[in-house]
Amino acid sequence: MRYGYFDDKNREYVITNPRTPVKWINYVGTLAFGGLVDHTGGSLICKEDPALNRITKYIPQLPSSEFKGETLYLRFKQVGGYKVFSPYLVPTLDHYNLYECHVGLGYTRIVSEFYGIRTDVTIFVPLEGSQVLRDIKLTNVSTQLQTVDAIPVVEYTHPDALKQFTNADWVPQTMQSKAFWDSDFVILSQYPFMRKDLAVNYFTSNHTVSSYESDRRRFLGANEYATWANPLSLQQDELGNYDAVRGDNIAALLHHLGTIEPGETVRLVTQLGQGESVEQVLPTIEHYRVPAHVEQAFQELTDFWVAYLSKFQVETPDAGMNSLLNIHNPRQCHTTLNWSRYLSLYQLGLGARGIGFRDSSQDVLGILPQMPAEGRSLIRQLLHVQRRDGSAMHQFNPLTMEANEGDSREVEDAPKYYGDDHLWIVLAIAAYLKETGDLAFLEGVIPYYEKDKEEQPLETGTVLDHMRRAIAFTHDNVGAHGLPLAGFADWNDSVNLRAGAESLFVANQYGKALLEMISLARYVGDEEMVVQYTATYEAMKRRVNEHAWDGEWYVRYFDADGGPIGSHENAEGQIYANGQSWPVISGFASPDRAALSLDAVYQRLNTIKGIKLSAPGYDGFDPTKGGVTTYPPGAKENGGIFLHTNPWVIIAETLVGNGDRAYEYYHQMNPAAKNDSIDEFECEPYVYPQNILGDEHPQFGLGRNSWLTGTASWVYRAATQYILGIRPTYEGLEIDPCIPRGWEGFRVTRVFRKTIYRIEVLNPDHFSKGVRSVRVDGKKIKGNVVPAFGDGSTHSVQVIMG
Ligand code: GLC
Repeated sequence: MRYGYFDDKNREYVITNPRTPVKWINYVGTLAFGGLVDHTGGSLICKEDPALNRITKYIPQLPSSEFKGETLYLRFKQVGGYKVFSPYLVPTLDHYNLYECHVGLGYTRIVSEFYGIRTDVTIFVPLEGSQVLRDIKLTNVSTQLQTVDAIPVVEYTHPDALKQFTNADWVPQTMQSKAFWDSDFVILSQYPFMRKDLAVNYFTSNHTVSSYESDRRRFLGANEYATWANPLSLQQDELGNYDAVRGDNIAALLHHLGTIEPGETVRLVTQLGQGESVEQVLPTIEHYRVPAHVEQAFQELTDFWVAYLSKFQVETPDAGMNSLLNIHNPRQCHTTLNWSRYLSLYQLGLGARGIGFRDSSQDVLGILPQMPAEGRSLIRQLLHVQRRDGSAMHQFNPLTMEANEGDSREVEDAPKYYGDDHLWIVLAIAAYLKETGDLAFLEGVIPYYEKDKEEQPLETGTVLDHMRRAIAFTHDNVGAHGLPLAGFADWNDSVNLRAGAESLFVANQYGKALLEMISLARYVGDEEMVVQYTATYEAMKRRVNEHAWDGEWYVRYFDADGGPIGSHENAEGQIYANGQSWPVISGFASPDRAALSLDAVYQRLNTIKGIKLSAPGYDGFDPTKGGVTTYPPGAKENGGIFLHTNPWVIIAETLVGNGDRAYEYYHQMNPAAKNDSIDEFECEPYVYPQNILGDEHPQFGLGRNSWLTGTASWVYRAATQYILGIRPTYEGLEIDPCIPRGWEGFRVTRVFRKTIYRIEVLNPDHFSKGVRSVRVDGKKIKGNVVPAFGDGSTHSVQVIMG
């Protein structure tokens, strides 16, 4: 069954059946102000801090039919009272004649028809705005006059999102609402009593309000035994005009829109925002009461996205690949960069999670062609939480820059670092430098993180020093086989081995980071560094191949006693995908071993819905392995299809020249390819989820944790840089495709260092890999690296494979 379709021309996915298996969401605004909007109009909005400055109350765990955060009621008089319904379907669940939710770039547009009224609502946050606008147009599509009232409603939360659920006396005692009549308009403000000088939430519109309500109990019905599906106060002509001094605060504004002629449209714009005080935000409120200003803000948003996407556009023979690469995948990368793992339908931004060092370093990789400056500033921020020994703090709060050691804090005697964290930043910096050529960035001075700032003077280092310390940390922290220690965990957060365990993932990640350091050193002419890191690289390569080859594939860890994990010797967890992809990425695997281990992945880990992280799953809790064994076999990191890792296998396959298999893996994980049979998968077909249940699980194929996942940046990188093979290097743009043999070719428009490259790749003899000739502006060049012209003009590049 399908619930909607891709409309690439308008850069939207259009949901036509609102009864999707789970809520399908979209993001509006940014972490600075914004949040998520679900396809039935519910919204979870916050400003800067999803944990401590949350504005609307959205409880994802409630059934999909329930009110969540925000809705709009419309009503008209009929015999015996008012007919009340929501044009978003939820929470009144009326029969509709038309329902479309257009999931756009930074906006959601819901178009519906109920009872002869067509409602067309565009929901968005203006660029850099601190308000969500809902531009609501109501058209009478019946043949009779219709007299309509519109009552938009928001439910507020206590700013401390968690407290909201943990204290039902203290929280209500501190919540206040107050109405400001601004001529005929109403601004319904809300604030926690103790914080009224700091911030005020407000809800207002551009239409005369005849009455309002700010107390949920009074709105639903005097005794709370009424429901959001049928609020009793909406059977009265007017609302109670009550300023709540405690309790569950809402903002409901009753507008009499008057009589609408057949064919006539009326318009109402609502604003939900936050500012220092009502007085302070009044000019902005007035600004957005003018529909032309709303249209202008929407145009600016559109222009932003058109410019963003224009940096990399493709035409391949695969329509689903085109949809994802031209629109949805770079968009998801923008979302992960912005929100890290802070706020989604699944990750609620609570507790200390904040921004993850590992996750955000990888998110940088997904936006470099489009937003290198944002990439640079996130890298700088991350380097501020790298410790002087080169390792990194695991998470930090971007507002306070307080950092912590993640889950390792909870476990006594556990190492207080993650083996992989600090190495990701080396990869991110190298990618940034190749994208921009901005080598001066290496000289910027950034302090190392000091937990106790009072006791230790801050030590600083250049960006290059930070990279070198990251390398040195892994160099100096090795175990019995001379392989890097795993620390509390490596990329696989859920395998928590006793101190002393060694990680082959980190060994290979280190190898890749060393390759980056060597090519950087070579480019800047630092021979000493080339020699030093080449020796270090070769030494680790030897150790990996000496100790970690298991016969048909590489092992994944050695535990604290030196026993292998991810070996044929193990009954469970015999083979891990990351154990095989990364030795190819690091260049440690010989061609024979690369081929054998990648074949082992294909045979033992691949399914038609994606590659499993490991197999067989652990069946039962094992405290010596930790979190991974808390899931049943086939779920999450325990043999699930943990999608983040699939692009690493794709990259490895392209490195060995297997374009058919690389594409097979790419295609099978493309959510767009699931559009026609999405019931099993359940999640949005326009973004990648973090995980899909594996074939050991009875619900094989079920996706979860969509949107905020490292899958986004890595699959984007795998497709653009390794399958299509358009890869920034220090010298220029390398063209090194690895495509299915069946393809005749493809086209790419790529903006690189302010220059537009129009690239056409032809594959007349049906190769997977290999470039026979490259012509730039009609002239043949030597090799396959197109120069970085940096001249702001357009150049044509014709590539013939062979
Ligand atoms: C989650 C975490 C990420 C980790 C992965 C595998 O996606 O955000 O940091 O690498 O799980 O455990």
